[in-house]
Formats: sequence, C-alpha cells, structure tokens
Amino acid sequence: MNTITTSIVSQFEKIVGAQYVFTDTENLEKYGRDETEKLFYAPQVIVKPRTAQEISQLLIICNEHLIPVTPRGAGTGLSGGALPHLGGLVISMERLNQILHIDERNLQVTTEPGVITEVLQEAVKEKGLFYPPDPASKGSCFIGGNISENSGGPKAVKYGVVKDYVLNLEVVLPTGEIIWTGSNVLKNATGYNLTQLLVGSEGTLGIVTKIVLRLIPHPKFDVLMLAPFNSLEKASEAVSAIFRAGITPSAMELMEIDAIRLATKMLDSTAIPLTDDLAAHLIIEVDGNNMEVLMSEMEAIAEVLMQYEAGELLFADDAQQKNELWKIRRRANEAAVTAGYTIEEDTVVPRAALPELIKGVKALGVAHGFKVVCYGHAGDGNLHIRINHPTIKTSYGNEEINSILKNLFVLVKELGGTISGEHGIGLIQKTYIPVMFDDISLQLMRGIKKTFDPNNILNAGKIFDL
Ligand code: LAC
Ligand code: ZN
Repeated sequence: MNTITTSIVSQFEKIVGAQYVFTDTENLEKYGRDETEKLFYAPQVIVKPRTAQEISQLLIICNEHLIPVTPRGAGTGLSGGALPHLGGLVISMERLNQILHIDERNLQVTTEPGVITEVLQEAVKEKGLFYPPDPASKGSCFIGGNISENSGGPKAVKYGVVKDYVLNLEVVLPTGEIIWTGSNVLKNATGYNLTQLLVGSEGTLGIVTKIVLRLIPHPKFDVLMLAPFNSLEKASEAVSAIFRAGITPSAMELMEIDAIRLATKMLDSTAIPLTDDLAAHLIIEVDGNNMEVLMSEMEAIAEVLMQYEAGELLFADDAQQKNELWKIRRRANEAAVTAGYTIEEDTVVPRAALPELIKGVKALGVAHGFKVVCYGHAGDGNLHIRINHPTIKTSYGNEEINSILKNLFVLVKELGGTISGEHGIGLIQKTYIPVMFDDISLQLMRGIKKTFDPNNILNAGKIFDL
C-alpha cells in the first residue's frame, strides 16, 4: 500500500474541488475515529465528494496507486468499519445527502446514502409510509452505513432488518465502474443476488451511492408496555413464551437493571420506577391499525408475563412517555460507555437460547473479574453485552480479552448463534471469524473480495484478512 503524494492530492482537488479535500489536524482527528472503543487511526486525506462519478474518479486513482480507501457514513459504527486503520484516503459520504424520490405508487424510496436514517423515516411517514429498521443511533447514523452493516434495531423483531427492504443499489466498484445491482422490483430471480451481497459487506466490495428501498404502509397505532422482573432469567425466559403464544410484538427489548440505572441516571429520568429487587425490564410494543386488537394482544402478553413472575405492568400513556422510555433504551449504550463499560459485543442466538446465553455471559464475568451489563433486542435473541474490565479498556489487539471473548463466541456458536447480529465484524471482531467459519467458507469470501477489489484497496483488513 502506498501513501498519498502531493500530486495525488491535487488530482483529488480537481475531482471534488479543493474546498472538499482536508488534511488539517481537526479533520484527521474527527475522521480517524468512530464509536468503536477508543480507537484512533489518522487518515492521510479526507475527501467529501458529491456524486458517484466523482467517487469513481477517486477510486480509479487510488486503485492505480494502491492507496487504501475507507468509505465513511456518519461514524456511528461499533465494530470499526469506518476506521482508516491503514491511513490513506477517507471518502466521507456526507454530501450525498438527498432523498431523491418517494414513489407513492409503488411504495418505494430512492435515496442517497448520506441521509440520516430518522430523516428518511420521517420523510416517508409524511406520505403515510414506513421504513421500519431503527438502529439506536437513528437520529445520527446514515442510511448508507445501515446498508453496509445490515443494521437492525427494535422493530426488526416484527419487520425485519435492512436487508429485507433493499431492492436495488447503485454502487461504485473499487476499480471505478458504476453498476446497479438489481431492479426496483419486489421479486427477482434473475442471476446471483448482488444487491444482498452488497448489503452488510461493510464497505469492502463497493461504495453505495444510491439506494432503492421498499416501504410499507405506516401502522396507525402502537401500544408500549414495561414489564418489571425480579429475575433476569425469568425475564429472558418470558421472551420466547410470548412468541409461542402466537403474538409478534413490534418490539421486544430487554434491559437489565444496571443498564436501566446507568441510562436513567445519565438522562436524569424517573420514567422507570426503580425498586430494590428489580432485576430487569422487558419493553414490549405492539402496533397495527386496530386498537382493540392491540389491546387484546397486550392482554394475552400480560397473561404470559404473569406465568414468568413479572411485576406490575406499566403502560406508556402518551407519545411523550413513549419517547422517554425509548430514549432510555436507545441511550443505554452511551450510558454504559460513559460509566466505563468500554468493550461491546453484539451476540445473537436463536431466541429460546437467550437465557443460556445470559447465564454464560454472567459466568464469564464472574470467572474473569469484570462487570458485565446486558440489554438489547431480546425478541431477536440479539443481546448487546457491555464489559467493564478493571484494567483492560480496549478489546482490539488485547490477547487476554480476545481469548475470553473467544470462549463467549464458542458458547454462542454451540447455542446455534453468531458473533454479530447488527453491528458487523469490521476491524475489532475479525479475530473471532474463524470461530464461525471454516477455511472453505472463508476462502469463498476472500474470492468474492478479490473479484470485486483485485488490488485490495477498499476497506482492506475489515471482516477478514486476505
Ligand atoms: C443498541 C445499539 C447499540 O441497540 O445497537 O443500543
Ligand atoms: Zn442494537
């Protein structure tokens, strides 16, 4: 890999305009980080192009000169996908920020990748339409980053994740060609599915410059309830029982007591009553177009919850209370980081195995002397685990914590699960990839990477090493 010479910088300036090429310390600081641990890698240069054509010209130069390129959305990732760990060029997608077309006849939206997810959701909601995937960072993350990571969020339990909404992508390949991966249709049995290959490829195969998403009608009503438990185990057991009772909530989140304490303290909120023996809360939402149906679903859920010794159920009365509860849940991650829980995992197991996973996680904490807090998308079996280790604050490159976490992933695999549900592998989880895949599967993935990116310039060293 090569560094960027001054003559190459002037070529970048000709392509995007000198005002959109940055090498100053402040920008190197900003674009050398994302939300992953405390990791920092300074890029050499940052560019902020406006079009796919500009990105194509940038990539042609980088491919010719073997310059590492890191594409970047809003930098909210948790696995280091946007970290320029090899230096080189960061291509920030922030100026590709237009919603291009809301197609109300076909229930689709075409957008650029630098649109904030919640902005996109609100824009389609104005037309009565719904784009459900709602990562906790939806107020700041970009839809393009969500495509790269195949993000989820609370609504995934009923509505699916990003991949379930992507119909077609415009992509600039590392070699500079611009392609569309599919068609704007709901069914497509034509050739290999390049669209789905790009979704979740973490910016290693191409740079997405336009996105076509399918939408659904926005449900008219939702009901939100909090269920307190004095036992974390019982709370996690109740989760699969609710689905077995024939109900699919639109959110089924778990927060254990320490996560609730940290988030309510950070937000100075009293929305969740904290009793002495409280161990966890389930946050349960149902949605739809008929309020009577929703109330009867909540009654059925309440019956199941009683069998698992839930305490007094608390219904959110109005939009403000709902927002406050969701804020507590969405900010749990940030609150845990602030309190010193610096290492984060995104394990996912089949839903019914969640109690065993939680038990295993807690046992690891006791055995190795660290604090651990769990919260996440229990209905999906997707558990976010945050670790507060007395001495080790960064997992990346730390052999001791890597070997402990490897044991966690062996357990996850035994339970039929996998390393990441929605945060991706990126930089910091790639050391665990061999737990999940044998050599044959990894060679297939490496072959795909080489086909798209023969010179390995685009987000090299993410997911796996070549
Ligand atoms: C959450 C993010 C971290 O669910 O995925 O809080
Ligand atoms: Zn999450």
